[in-house]
Amino acid sequence: MPRLTFLNPTGPGSAAITVDAPAGDTILDVAEHHGARIGHACGGNLACSTCHIWVQEGMGSLPDPEDKEYDILDKAFDVRAESRLGCQCRLGAADVVVEITEESLRAWLDENPEERRRLADQAGGK
Ligand code: FES
Repeated sequence: MPRLTFLNPTGPGSAAITVDAPAGDTILDVAEHHGARIGHACGGNLACSTCHIWVQEGMGSLPDPEDKEYDILDKAFDVRAESRLGCQCRLGAADVVVEITEESLRAWLDENPEERRRLADQAGGK
């Protein structure tokens, strides 16, 4: 079973999360089950760029992107050679390390306003 590590799982500077994850699961699915905050405005249907991640290790074990994924990534912010969409990356046999982009972390908070409020309250000393 491959190990999947999320860098910045709950925000910049947060402690990494490493989990064993079944081959064939998408990185987005694993994130949802383990509390890593990857946005997913379209529900994993390849229609937004909110699940944008940077694959730091293990890119070769992931399926190659299809043309539509490149089209969607064109709409993302801070796209790099290691950019992928978390909903399109099914794990293979090898371990993978991904960094969640700020775009995706922001999208996750937009999708979870109660958590955004809780963080704002915390920051305000309430
Ligand atoms: S969740 Fe929308 S493209 Fe991945």
